[in-house]
Amino acid sequence: MFETITAAPPDPILGLNEAFLKDPRLDKINLTSGVYRDEQGRTPILKTVKKAEEKLLSSETSKGYLGIDGLEEFDQAAARLCLGNDVPASQVAAVQTPGGTGALRVAADFLGTHFGAARVWCSNPTWPNHIGVFQSAGLETKSHPYLSSDKTSLDLAGMLDLIEREGRAGDAICLHACCHNPSGIDPTEQQWSEIAELTAQRGMLPLVDFAYQGFGSGLEEDRVAITQIAKQHSEFLVCSSYSKNFGLYSERVGAMLAVVNSPSIAERVLSQLKQAVRVNYSNPPRHGAAIVATILADAGLRAQWLDELAEMRNRIHKMRSSFVQGMKTTGCSVDFSFLMGQKGMFSFSGLNPMQVDWLRTQKGIYMVGSGRINVAGITQENLPTLCNCVAEALRM
Ligand code: LMR
Repeated sequence: MFETITAAPPDPILGLNEAFLKDPRLDKINLTSGVYRDEQGRTPILKTVKKAEEKLLSSETSKGYLGIDGLEEFDQAAARLCLGNDVPASQVAAVQTPGGTGALRVAADFLGTHFGAARVWCSNPTWPNHIGVFQSAGLETKSHPYLSSDKTSLDLAGMLDLIEREGRAGDAICLHACCHNPSGIDPTEQQWSEIAELTAQRGMLPLVDFAYQGFGSGLEEDRVAITQIAKQHSEFLVCSSYSKNFGLYSERVGAMLAVVNSPSIAERVLSQLKQAVRVNYSNPPRHGAAIVATILADAGLRAQWLDELAEMRNRIHKMRSSFVQGMKTTGCSVDFSFLMGQKGMFSFSGLNPMQVDWLRTQKGIYMVGSGRINVAGITQENLPTLCNCVAEALRM
């Protein structure tokens, strides 16, 4: 049977990470997947996570299954963290999912089952897996402009123009709440309000991917999109991830939140989300969600976690500005100051696929084919090499 199976192409992000790990060069630099790294190039376990784990180790009494919708304390905490006071808790149906990708898949399955004709609009560019997840759930995807032609700013007019002309009632629109992946270019509060207003007028459903809360400007500041959307839409979906802001990548912690019009609709929607989960992975893993719930429920741990989150955010910011400065000192003709307006882990370097390829093969510097770099992969130690090599690539 399997003779006819052909090999799938490597994943455009995680496949590069695999290639990096196999590369024997000692001076290689990994700017691929969106994983935070500290000044030593490590992805640390947060101190608050370790403390929560100690608490759990001594208090946990069972490894029995969680409910289909996961740990109740976690679901409630996730809803509060993402939605703040913008939405009454009784109008939210929440399920714990394996990471943000799991949340996207549950959302896509829910839409596919109940609104099969719905199309999902994605920004061009977007995280490549958005398209994969939506299409494999049977949904049609459409793309709208997002960036100006020089890829250094938002093309809001282009985005709104296409949505106005082609967006249909019942279509979903996948919006990156903050730290747009791959560009790092986010709408302002005013621009979010315009996006929310138009999509509400068109009868479209926002499907908000909230994977980087706290990595942009701050935990609360990064909720600006949610606040603006909640003002215009009484129904929307949020897919959140705790991989980055709690550093819990391998624990796979996420949540899918459906904001609806009434408590009784929330109950019915929850029952359908549970169906989607049951046929997919049955019920979610406990450990990571229990860590998040433990930290958020304890005022002391929560405060310490906010400090750790700020530390990660500040280091990324510092590395972005060091890179911009570093490029200046190489005498390179390209001014990278536009990177300073970008938020979160990613920046769009403007390097073309040939330059990206050359950096990987000749210099052992790995970044995503679109020219996206994970700024958190930059350290004081690898910065000079990185800047010199990028300048050399640009001169070619
Ligand atoms: C990324 O975009 O690098 C991260 O979201 C990791 C992933 O799963 O692709």
